[in-house]
Amino acid sequence: MSRTFKVAVVGATGAVGEVMLAILAERGFPASEVIALASERSAGGEVSYGGDDLVVRDLATFDPAGVDIALFSAGGATSLEHAPRFAAAGAVVIDNSSAFRRDDDVPLVVSEVNPEAIAHRPRGIIANPNCSTMQMLVALAPIHRRYGIERINVCTYQSVSGAGRAALEELGRQTGALLNFQGPDPQRFPVQIAFNLIPQIDEFMDNGYTREEMKLVWETRKILGDDGIQVNPTAVRVPVFYGHSEAVHIETRDKVTAAEARALLEAAPGVEVVDERVAGGWPTPVTHASGKDAVFVGRIREDLSHPRGLDMWIVSDNIRKGAALNAVQIAELVAAESAG
Ligand code: A2P
Repeated sequence: MSRTFKVAVVGATGAVGEVMLAILAERGFPASEVIALASERSAGGEVSYGGDDLVVRDLATFDPAGVDIALFSAGGATSLEHAPRFAAAGAVVIDNSSAFRRDDDVPLVVSEVNPEAIAHRPRGIIANPNCSTMQMLVALAPIHRRYGIERINVCTYQSVSGAGRAALEELGRQTGALLNFQGPDPQRFPVQIAFNLIPQIDEFMDNGYTREEMKLVWETRKILGDDGIQVNPTAVRVPVFYGHSEAVHIETRDKVTAAEARALLEAAPGVEVVDERVAGGWPTPVTHASGKDAVFVGRIREDLSHPRGLDMWIVSDNIRKGAALNAVQIAELVAAESAG
């Protein structure tokens, strides 16, 4: 009989945790048991896993002995405190927070791009990349390997689900309030997000970029194993519930035509090309990405301002490929190790 795994989902009541549970069930992950964990405030409540309801348990008092794989998505502070405890008890931790992503002894893995990196995990922790980096690299890694990307200019249009359940609720509540001539009463975001755009995600760094933008720089270099790639990001929060979009402009070492890039992307794992030069011939978060696994790429064209420039539009469900799906795909890679 093939092996089964005791799996813990930490942050099971959150926007990402609930989708981790759904995807584990959907993909038939070989789990002998799935344990839902969150903070004390939601302990005793229920979350769904396939057709079952799981009772949520309190992470702080949970004993991780016997857990084989732990998927963490409960914020950086929770990961810093509890992930080492799970790893010490023998679990492989797959962490969706940014707590360990830049540590040299923690692999940072996109399942289609650098799956081999999971093998070296001396701390028993594997990091799941930031959602914006994740979808961008599923599309750009094949181009980088063939043509050598020297520079990436990227503007992101990031949905509110990336900021968690409270942010989803805030967009819904504000939209309703404003349509009823009431005030927006911002709480999760610094200003009104409904019918607005916010050009700051995460805190500012000394260089004037935000931490979310710098994640695109740091994580791209680490995942592609190339510190020479220049990345110039602007990250913007938009009033979309699910699905991040990115306008990406790359400069390659060798010239790549739009037709060559399209052919390469059509064959790339995890990518779906939607690129017709007609109305509706491009992907959007609502019409293509939301609830889907693929990274959708459209608007592929040669940059008329640069001889080796290429432009494209990359859209994906930030909660699925950008977070929960990739974490489960890493869990599948870990499970495949013991199948030998
Ligand atoms: P809880 O529901 O108990 O607050 P989101 O990103 O959608 O806001 O979700 C965050 C997830 O992380 C939730 O499941 C939340 O659980 C969980 N979480 C937050 N802080 C802690 C903590 N200190 N210990 C355990 N789980 C936590």
